[in-house]
Amino acid sequence: MKFLHRMQAVCLILLTVISVSAQRITLKPEVEEKIDKLLSQMTLEEKLGQMTQFSGANSMNETMIREGKVGSLLNIRDAKEANRLQRIAVNESRLGIPLIFGNDVIHGYRTIYPIPLACAASWDTALVRQAAKIAGEEARAEGTHWTFAPMVDIARDPRWGRIAEGAGEDPFLGSAMAKSFVTGFQGKTLTGQSSVLACAKHFVGYGAAEGGRDYNTTDMSERTLREIYLPPFKSAVYAGAGSLMSAFNDLSGIPASANRFTLTDVLKNEWQFNGFVVSDWNSIGELVAHGIASNATEAGVAALKAGVDMDMEGRAYSDGLATLIRQGKVPESLPKIRDAVRRILRMKYELGLFDQPFTDEILAKSVILSPENLNIARSLAAESFVLLKNDRDLLPLAKNIKTLAVIGALADNQDALLGTWECEGKAADVVTILQGIRSAVGKTTKVLYDPETSGLVVNENRSGFASAVAAAKNADAVVLVLGESRDMSGEAASRAVLNLPGVQEELAKEIIAVGKPVVVVLIAGRSLTIPWLVENAQAILMGWAPGIQGGNAIADVLFGDVNPGGKLPVTFPRSVGQIPIYYNHKNTGRPANAFYKFSSKYIDEKSTPLFSFGFGLSYTTFRYSGLKVIADRLTSNDTLKVRVNLMNSGKRKGAEVAQLYIRDLIASVTRPVKELKGFQRVVLQPGEEKMLEFSIPITEIGFYDSMMKYVIEPGKFEVMVGGNSDELVSTDFEVIQSEEK
Ligand code: GLC
Repeated sequence: MKFLHRMQAVCLILLTVISVSAQRITLKPEVEEKIDKLLSQMTLEEKLGQMTQFSGANSMNETMIREGKVGSLLNIRDAKEANRLQRIAVNESRLGIPLIFGNDVIHGYRTIYPIPLACAASWDTALVRQAAKIAGEEARAEGTHWTFAPMVDIARDPRWGRIAEGAGEDPFLGSAMAKSFVTGFQGKTLTGQSSVLACAKHFVGYGAAEGGRDYNTTDMSERTLREIYLPPFKSAVYAGAGSLMSAFNDLSGIPASANRFTLTDVLKNEWQFNGFVVSDWNSIGELVAHGIASNATEAGVAALKAGVDMDMEGRAYSDGLATLIRQGKVPESLPKIRDAVRRILRMKYELGLFDQPFTDEILAKSVILSPENLNIARSLAAESFVLLKNDRDLLPLAKNIKTLAVIGALADNQDALLGTWECEGKAADVVTILQGIRSAVGKTTKVLYDPETSGLVVNENRSGFASAVAAAKNADAVVLVLGESRDMSGEAASRAVLNLPGVQEELAKEIIAVGKPVVVVLIAGRSLTIPWLVENAQAILMGWAPGIQGGNAIADVLFGDVNPGGKLPVTFPRSVGQIPIYYNHKNTGRPANAFYKFSSKYIDEKSTPLFSFGFGLSYTTFRYSGLKVIADRLTSNDTLKVRVNLMNSGKRKGAEVAQLYIRDLIASVTRPVKELKGFQRVVLQPGEEKMLEFSIPITEIGFYDSMMKYVIEPGKFEVMVGGNSDELVSTDFEVIQSEEK
C-alpha cells in the first residue's frame, strides 16, 4: 500500500508540475500516452510526413497523403474539399492520422474586419478578441483548423509593407494585441467547430528588415531582441498559442529558421512552449540562399536541430533526410524528429481531430457573413479610425448637409478597403465610402460623385481633375478619399517613398484651393508622409484598410454616430529620411536641440514626427488631473499604483485611451525616454469624470543589464499619463532595495 501511496503522490506532483497556467497548453498524460503509442508504430517516413506541409491539393499530394507522408495542407478553403482530403488521410493511410488544415486568417475569414494595424489603433483588446473569435468560427466552419496569425512582428519602419499586418511599434501594445488575437482565435477550447489554433509569427525580428525592405537582413543586440521584438511572442505563448511560425530573415547572422537560440533556448526551454513551430513558406529551403546550407537536406538538418518542427512547402524534411538518417549521418536528428512529431500530434489532439476529423459542411451557411459578424466588423472599423486633424470642428458633418462632394480614387473603391491578406474576403462584399455616405445622409442631401475621379491611385491620369474641382465648387463640403491600393502594403510591398501615390496630392491641392471645407479620409496599410495635407486640409481621418464594413464605419464617424477614439500604434514620420523614428527612443548624449547646432538633428528636416505614437483626437476633449502614485518608494516585490482623474471636458460622449509611460532616469544601461507600461480605454459622457487606477508590478519595469541579466535596479523613475506619448502629466517614484524599506 505504501508503494501505491508514494506512486499516487508522484503522479500528483507530476500533474501539478506538468499542468502550467490554465491558459497555456498543458501536457495531458492521457494524450501523451496516445502519442507515445502512435510514435512507436510510425516509420521514419511517416514521422517526417507529419513534419511536412504542402499547399493545395493535387494528385502528388494526395498520393503522399495516402502514403502518410503529409501532415498538413494550407490554402484549402472549403469544408467539402477539406473533408475529401481528410478522408484520404484518415481512411486510406496506414495509421489514419488526420491532416491539420492551415490558412492565413489574418483579419477575418470572409467577414473581413480592419487590418491588424488598424485593430491595434482601436486599443480595444476586448473587441479585437471578439473579431478574432468570429474569424475563427468562420474559418473552422469551412474546414480550417489553424490560422497563421496573429502576426506580432514589431515594426518601426513604415517602408516595410507588412507593418500593415501587425500591431505597430510598441512591445506593450503589441503584447496586448497578441493576447487578444490568440484568445479570440483559440477560445476556451480548441475542440469543436468554433475555434482555430493560433500561430504567432514571424519568429523573430522580421520587422527589423534593413531599409524596410521585405526579407532583408536584420541585425540587433540581444537586448533589443529581448526588450522589443520578443515580448509579443512571449505574450502569445503565455496566452496559449499552439504554434509559432519561424521567419525568413537572417537574424544577426543566423537565419530565424535555423536559430537555435531563439527557437529552442528561448521559446522551448525558457518559455516552456509545448506547441510546435512551422517554418514560413520554404524558409528552410532558403537557408541555401542565406549561405548556411549547400542543399535542401542540409538545410533541413540545420532547421531541425534549431527547433523547426514542420516544413511549409519546402520538402526539406520529406526528401533526403530519411536517407541521411538511415546512413547514420545525422544521428542527433532522431530525438529532434520524435519531439517535433510529438508536438504536432499534441496539437492535433488538442484540436480534437482524432475524434472529429471532419467538418460539418452545413455549418458555414449559418456562420459566414452573419449580421452579428458584420456588426463587429463595423464597430471595430469605427473604433480603429484615428482623427488626425479637425480644425474649427469641421467634423462631424451634418447629415442634412445640402450638397456634399465625394472625391478621390478610393472614394468608391471596394478592393482597397479589404486590405492585405484578405483571405476569403470578396471586394463585392465591401461597402465603399461613397455607399456608406449615401446611406447615412438625409433624403434632401445631394451627393456629388464623378466616377471619372476614380482612377487607379498610381496613375498619372489627371482627366478627372476638372470634374472633381467642379463638384467641389458646387458643394458645401468635400470628402476627399486618398491613399494606397490594397497591393501597396502587405508582403513583398515595401515602398521607398511614403507620399500619396500617383497624382493624388496634386488633386488634393486643386480641391483644397477651391476653398470649401475639405475632410481627407486616408486609406492605407501604413503611416504616410503627408506634411502638405496636414498643413492644408481642415480635417483628416486615418481610415487604414477598414474591411468590408468600412464605408458604413467611415460614415458613422464622419456624421458623428461614432465619436472617433483611435490612437496611432505607429509614429507618422514627416519624411522617409527620418526613419527609423519611434517614440521609445534613447536620449543620446546630445538630444535634439533646435538652438544648438551640435545636437542630434537634421539640417533639412525637423526632428519631431508628423504625428506621435498614441496620438488621436476626438469630437470631445479630455482633461487629466490629480496624477499621483499611492506609494513613491517601492521594492522589486511591490506593485506601482498610479491614480489619475480623467474628465470628458467636452460636449460629446467619447472614448479616450489613457496611456501610462515610465522612464528609468538613471540605469546601468541607457534606457528609452519613455516606455508604454499601461493603458485603459474609457468611455465618458460629457462632463463625466472618472478616477483611473493603474497597477504595474515593479518586476515589469526592469531591463537586461550589460550581462544580459534581467534586473530591477534601484533608482528614480518618472511616470507619465496622457492621451498620447507627447502630452503627458507626470510625477515620480523610486525603486529602493528591500532593506531600505
Ligand atoms: C507567406 C508569409 C506568411 C504566410 C505564409 C503562408 O510567405 O510570409 O506570413 O503565413 O506564406 O501563406
